Amino acid sequence: MIAVESPTYYGLLQILESLGMRALEIPCSPQTGLSLEALELAVRTYDNIRAVVAMPNLQNPLGSIMPDAHKVRLVQWCEDHGVPLIEDDCLSGTADFDTPLAAAKAWDRTGNVIYCSSVHKMLAPGVRLGWIAGGKWHARVEMLKFALSRPNEMLSQAAVAEFMATGGYERHLRRLRVALRQQREWTAQVIAATFPAGTRLTLPRGGFHLWVELPEGVTSEAVFEQALREGVYVAPGLMFSNSPRCDGFIRINCGTPRSTRVEHALGTLAAAVHRLAA
Ligand SMILES: Cc1ncc(COP(=O)(O)O)c(C=O)c1O
Repeated sequence: MIAVESPTYYGLLQILESLGMRALEIPCSPQTGLSLEALELAVRTYDNIRAVVAMPNLQNPLGSIMPDAHKVRLVQWCEDHGVPLIEDDCLSGTADFDTPLAAAKAWDRTGNVIYCSSVHKMLAPGVRLGWIAGGKWHARVEMLKFALSRPNEMLSQAAVAEFMATGGYERHLRRLRVALRQQREWTAQVIAATFPAGTRLTLPRGGFHLWVELPEGVTSEAVFEQALREGVYVAPGLMFSNSPRCDGFIRINCGTPRSTRVEHALGTLAAAVHRLAA
């Protein structure tokens, strides 16, 4: 059994299912991320937790950031229990702070943390390049990467390496952070002004997403279906858990620059939620 955050990135749930592994969902708060108390409780209930997968920085979909003190406790807890921590850090480059967010890996003294990140979210969706610091499993990770997908093609790696070495990547990230902040703030304002009473959200300090709580009685599945009929795609909360506990939420992507098309899509969504809430 693998302990994961709840809600969590649906791709992780799909990977675990395809590997025949069970996900144990640990509640997460929109402010401070993974609940360490719930994790401690889980290990007292289940003695077969083989790994913890977490996104301490800008969790997808919540956008939560674990305080550094929690990251220290999480790393220590995993070490004390002999449970490897797999850290997904693919969004921290979009964080809206002057100093970079620390990864939990920064407190790893024994190689118990497997750190993963990529440029896929931060540079361009088509550039599927990432990296892993595999700690004490690094050689095994290298072997599995080679066995499962062979090395990545050289050209894109060389191009990204040069972009990073010449400072272009840092400049790009600075612009991206400002653009994403404006897009998140604008989208949150539109939601506050046009969605029905009872809609709630917490504005994250980075990332592409807003995790929106729907008014009482409105389900994400119904919103998804109505919006899709009108050509608008929104991620229903249901995708982010194996249980129906997130059906009262939708995840709105703010990664597309503001345009009349995006304004129209938000209007379509707002109208669908109004109809369902009536
Ligand atoms: C939280 C999270 N982790 C991992 C991934 C996968 O990253 P990549 O596309 O770089 O393989 C995604 C991508 O959608 C993601 O949102």
